[in-house]
Amino acid sequence: MSSSTLYTNPSAKSWTYSYETDISPAQAFHNRLPGYEQTPLIPLYDLAEQLGVGAVFVKDESSRLGLPAFKILGASWGTFRAIAEQTGLSLNMSLRDVSEAAKKAGTILFAATEGNHGRAVARMGKILEIPTRIFMSRFADQETCQKIEGEGAQVTVIPGSYDDAVAAAFAESRRVSTGLLIQDNAFEGYERIPAWIVEGYSTLLLEIGEQLEAQGLRPTMIVTPIGVGSLGHAVVAFCKSGGRQIGVLTVEPETAACLQHSLRAGERSTIDTSATIMNGMCCGSVSPISWPVLSRGVDASIVVSDLECHESVQYMQDCGINAGPCGAATLAAIKKAASMGLSLQTNSVIVLVNTEGARAYPLPSSYVAAKASDRAGS
Ligand SMILES: Cc1ncc(COP(=O)(O)O)c(C=O)c1O
Repeated sequence: MSSSTLYTNPSAKSWTYSYETDISPAQAFHNRLPGYEQTPLIPLYDLAEQLGVGAVFVKDESSRLGLPAFKILGASWGTFRAIAEQTGLSLNMSLRDVSEAAKKAGTILFAATEGNHGRAVARMGKILEIPTRIFMSRFADQETCQKIEGEGAQVTVIPGSYDDAVAAAFAESRRVSTGLLIQDNAFEGYERIPAWIVEGYSTLLLEIGEQLEAQGLRPTMIVTPIGVGSLGHAVVAFCKSGGRQIGVLTVEPETAACLQHSLRAGERSTIDTSATIMNGMCCGSVSPISWPVLSRGVDASIVVSDLECHESVQYMQDCGINAGPCGAATLAAIKKAASMGLSLQTNSVIVLVNTEGARAYPLPSSYVAAKASDRAGS
């Protein structure tokens, strides 16, 4: 690990992105999903004052389409597009038509997951009434497996890592002629569905733009967690397109900082990871389709510890936000980046993406030790 955890790329400020495809059909599709509504954008006045900026908002994805994470936005659009292609349907077909076509074709959905993505794919299987098979690594916990099974999916825990689970899901999906792998990270020969998943996340960004515009504001910086970088890809694409020049700050766990490692190396590279409370961000490499966008469009990247993340979970929850570790990591990130000299202005409007709802996790050992010594001292 480098001695400095803040990495900046000054050339990202003027870098621009053009969407290769129109993203509005994804938003229109989400609008048609049962229970769709914009997630809240919550102001954090005290934090804005502390940081000396105009405003800080949390885009709260702790409840999105009835699930406790943003992932359903990508999984739903990726699944819909893949089935539409498999069955020759157009993109303005209703969910009912897609369900009928998928059932007739015998479509089976496959995915590998650490939790949230697999549950989202399983939810799509449930909505479309088609079978779903989810693969998880040996680190899978019983509660997560049960939640995915609760969506009606069949869960297989394999003895290997997350990457081995992806390989298993891919192999199984190929064994069935009507199998569709809905995966949120790309690999050689498998790029289109992950690209649709990235496109699906753009709805979250369009909502931020609309919600701030309604208050006469525009974002100047968006802070996003990074796992395989698909969400970060969508964030950069939005921030650097359409005449917008919004700064992007990414955050990763110190035990799995694959993006920052790659940014420093100047090439996409794979790192060894170890456990973190930021489960969904525990990834050893960035998705190959996202690297070209992230490497050019991320303005700043920071790495946070489990302790810093845990303290931010507590802060957000004290503010009444139902934040989990991956989402609260964005708060730890902006505070740490500001203390390390990241340039912020009095008119900055910063948006933190809280990607998941509160969940149980093991308390960081440094936190437990500090509490124990407090108790011993009092
Ligand atoms: C809650 C949560 N936040 C952030 C991420 C990171 O997203 P990505 O893997 O697209 O970088 C994930 C990924 O699983 C997640 O589950």
